[in-house]
Amino acid sequence: MNHFTVNVRHPISTIRPEIYSNFSEHLGRCIYNGIYVGENSPIPNVNGMRTDVVEALKKIKLAVLRWPGGCFADEYHWKDGIGDKALRKKMINTNWGGVTEDNSFGTHEFMELCRQIGCEPYINGNVGSGTVQEMSEWVEYLTFDGVSPMADLRAKNGHPEAWKVKYFGVGNESWGCGGNMTPEYYANEYRRYQTFIKNYPGNRIYRIACGPNVDDYNWTETMMKNAGWMMDGISLHYYTVPGDWVHKGSATVFDKEEYYKTLSKTMYMDELIEKHGAIIKKYTRNRHHVGLIVDEWGTWYDVEPGTNPGFLYQQNTMRDAIVAGLNLNIFNKHSDIVDMANIAQLINVLQSLILTDGADMILTPTYHVFDLYQVHQGAELVESFIQSKQIGTEEFKLPELQMSASVNGANELNLTIVNTDADEAKELCGTIEGIAFSSFSAEILTDKIDAHNTFDAPETVKTAEFKNIAINGEKVTLTVPPCSVLRVTLK
Ligand code: AHR
Repeated sequence: MNHFTVNVRHPISTIRPEIYSNFSEHLGRCIYNGIYVGENSPIPNVNGMRTDVVEALKKIKLAVLRWPGGCFADEYHWKDGIGDKALRKKMINTNWGGVTEDNSFGTHEFMELCRQIGCEPYINGNVGSGTVQEMSEWVEYLTFDGVSPMADLRAKNGHPEAWKVKYFGVGNESWGCGGNMTPEYYANEYRRYQTFIKNYPGNRIYRIACGPNVDDYNWTETMMKNAGWMMDGISLHYYTVPGDWVHKGSATVFDKEEYYKTLSKTMYMDELIEKHGAIIKKYTRNRHHVGLIVDEWGTWYDVEPGTNPGFLYQQNTMRDAIVAGLNLNIFNKHSDIVDMANIAQLINVLQSLILTDGADMILTPTYHVFDLYQVHQGAELVESFIQSKQIGTEEFKLPELQMSASVNGANELNLTIVNTDADEAKELCGTIEGIAFSSFSAEILTDKIDAHNTFDAPETVKTAEFKNIAINGEKVTLTVPPCSVLRVTLK
């Protein structure tokens, strides 16, 4: 029997809905085929956006969508993606397969997609190969409501009203594909570019500086020291790769050892947030909040056999669901500093929520975890502790059990519990301090570690009602199946 405790009298921080966000890049079949099929497609769409995809994203209350990249952002020139589609300039997508980008999905299309989903846009500007003027004019085009060259151009292109844009990123991976800059150089560039990102009346932009790659603490330190007071957030990128960057490992063919290795590596996120967060706090000293924006996270495997290596198309199994559950619990735990997290990526790329094949669409195990966890959005994180042994291999260990607890505005307590053990169910006995509950509802996602959905069998892995719970005053007992992600709502 494993014990857990939750103390609802102890709210810690608000879990911002933005932790449940996503990322869409002009990469492989993410935008084209995945999201956007064009107005004339036989695939059901509204203004070119796939209806099935939009509906699926509305269901999980997707909070924010980041666009247009990724590495693509630093070679994207936004003016090439506006106006008459027949006249839009074509370009080479040098990062992702060298394919021709026809720019038919641009600013207006992205903003229309966000409108349909009901999510906030997060636009990533081009520092690597773009100018200050270009970035500044993009912000004017998007958000200035009045008479100006860019507002007039926007009106000419069919959208007289200004949009609201809350999140704006100043470059992406500027230490790598975004320009191979040193932190000192980028810090100066950041200061200059962000000066010209204006807050036009009625729109306040949350400025996001390019942050570190994984454990580059020097990058965070340099940025905070030189520009910390000029930013609202700083990004962090960390991908979970079971192997190395040459042989990353298969998305679907792996043994238990590789399963535990993947999960153990994903738990590194906790330490990364802890350490980068401490550097940020050292410089802000509660005078000014700078959030950590984990705007690229998730698994990265070898591409599916027979697919374009530049398209990063991978399948998604229960192992990915466990990765998602663990990371989302970690982000909740650090919700005092994690302002946003965007899994990479939305559809048909890396750890996707959705896969498509022509007109067909399937929801991945990762999607179902976002569905289970949406209850945490905007809720108060409360103190919780779960007793757990370590599991895994000699070298790669992690806790068997991990959880997160939050209380929402209706005074419901939501627990999300992950059992990482591939084979054994866990009996749990919990004490909830602070409120006595009389009823519950629960849903679970559980299967073999490599179980996944395919276009022939789209519902192999799906959530099911979970009834194996007993409540008695402040005590809750339940048995959590192996390899599972469980959500329990106590009322
Ligand atoms: O998500 C794929 C790529 O990974 C992004 O374009 C880049 O920012 C990162 O290296």
